[in-house]
Amino acid sequence: MEAFCILDALNAALLAAAEGWEGFEPELRLADPRFGDFQANGVLPFAKKLGKNPRALATQLLQQAQEALRGLGIEGELSGPGFLNFTLQPELLERWLTAYASAEAFVAGAATLYPGRTIVVDYSSPNTAKEMHVGHIRSTVIGESLARLLRLCGAKVITDNHIGDWGTQFGILILEIKRQHWDLDAPHPDPLAALETLYRDGQARVKEDPQAAAQARQELVLLQQGDPQNFKIWTQVKQISYAAFEAIYRRLDVHFDHVLGESFYRDKVDAVYEQLQSLGIAQESEGALVVFHPEHPRFAKTPFMIRKSDGASNYASTDLATLCYRTKILGAQEILYVVDVRQQDHFEQLFLTANKWFNSMGKTLPVLCHIGFGTILGADGKAIKTRSGGTVKLKALLDEAEQRAYAAVTQKNPQLSEEDRRHIARVVGVGAVRYADLSQNRSSDYIFDWDKLLAFEGNTAPYLLYAVARLHGILRHAPLESPSAAAPLETPHELALAKKLLNSVTALKQSLMELRPHFLCQYLYELSGTFNAFYAVDKVLTSDPPTQAKRVALCRQTLNTLTLGLETLGMETLLQM
Ligand code: ARG
Repeated sequence: MEAFCILDALNAALLAAAEGWEGFEPELRLADPRFGDFQANGVLPFAKKLGKNPRALATQLLQQAQEALRGLGIEGELSGPGFLNFTLQPELLERWLTAYASAEAFVAGAATLYPGRTIVVDYSSPNTAKEMHVGHIRSTVIGESLARLLRLCGAKVITDNHIGDWGTQFGILILEIKRQHWDLDAPHPDPLAALETLYRDGQARVKEDPQAAAQARQELVLLQQGDPQNFKIWTQVKQISYAAFEAIYRRLDVHFDHVLGESFYRDKVDAVYEQLQSLGIAQESEGALVVFHPEHPRFAKTPFMIRKSDGASNYASTDLATLCYRTKILGAQEILYVVDVRQQDHFEQLFLTANKWFNSMGKTLPVLCHIGFGTILGADGKAIKTRSGGTVKLKALLDEAEQRAYAAVTQKNPQLSEEDRRHIARVVGVGAVRYADLSQNRSSDYIFDWDKLLAFEGNTAPYLLYAVARLHGILRHAPLESPSAAAPLETPHELALAKKLLNSVTALKQSLMELRPHFLCQYLYELSGTFNAFYAVDKVLTSDPPTQAKRVALCRQTLNTLTLGLETLGMETLLQM
């Protein structure tokens, strides 16, 4: 069986050749294409440690690896003070392309990259009684793409939308609903927007009037004690909120295995308090229950509060109960929290607490990882706002994206039917917003710019979707069954495209290891560029059947790779544009 990951195969060959070299790491990476395909930098530091001549060691390694390299179809070369450059030979490229020509074979290969782990991905997680705003798009699309990536690479992924449906906002909201005699059963064009307004009214009142504030707290206590009227209101608010969230998830093609909101854990927090107290991890302080982390410089003075002084649970209590549930019931070995970096302190304290908790019970804690992301900025470099200064609603943002894309398609292709243009506009509009987000390193803030994200040039969704549509167009004219065997790869553009296709594996791995979708985006962008350069020079539909067979195969594989890559990012593709 042809190795799926050539980089791993090469790494294994070098390690085997370096038998007895205690602690040697080849340190393989992609090379500057002028010198080769891969480069091993590990001999230098290793030689330095032993006080040996690096060139001599590198020569020795190359000799010892010679046979294995020949078997793989890789040529090695010594360079500089002791680097090794490796070039993939055409026969290796051809073997690999043949082995992973079909989407099924590629998917089977990808599933060997990270097999078997049970991973819970916690993402999107908006709060009820409020519309989703632009801040939620990052968690939603980054989380969805990481879930798809991990699944593709062989993990058992469980997605969970940890909606905030048990917070203090309900006291205020219930009070206001009662005060205004708001009828939750009456039909309303945008019920969630109405609830948000009610909540804001309530907030203003509570701020001014201490008596109202006390009443709001009382409403929350009633809710938490199971008062039937308040519980009914709460349930309805939750339904209204979730229906609106679902409409967004449908547009974004986002799916959850579970939607276990904070409220799901309301009867599970007492056990957390008891355990943490009896294990001596949590202690009472000024009426609240807290966990101190004196060993941590940043939290030495601010403990992690896990129960409020009025006895109510909070974000930390439910997160601890959630962690326990995901470990015990869902069997999580890893948990990813895709949440704004501004919540870093919360997660650090949560993880420190969980560590102490599981340690003192002698249990293994799942690998916990906060997948933080930066803020979306407006043109002024500050958090994006509407013209009137309000938060940008996600629904409005997606609507505008579709409208702008519709205008662009209509201008480009007025001859297409209205229905086709609407469909294209939806895929391009939503895809452009999503891709603009995913193509940025998630740790950074980025400036939201309509012109840039809808441009047909550069690392954008329209550019990639256009490459896909173009490939569909080319292949429509190619015969399904080639009448002849493919000729060997030969021209510089054929070889460059073939290598780029093999590098899809490296891109997947890099995205996977760092849990950053932008590496995959960058790769797909480069693949499209390599393909366009190939197509501009090497004629695909030619009168020479063996040449046509090989080039059609390259086109098919490029299309498969682009389609699967975009699907992994959560994006739909188009047959025409
Ligand atoms: N609802 C929270 C918010 O809007 C995000 C929840 C993230 N998940 C978690 N397990 N804490 O900020």
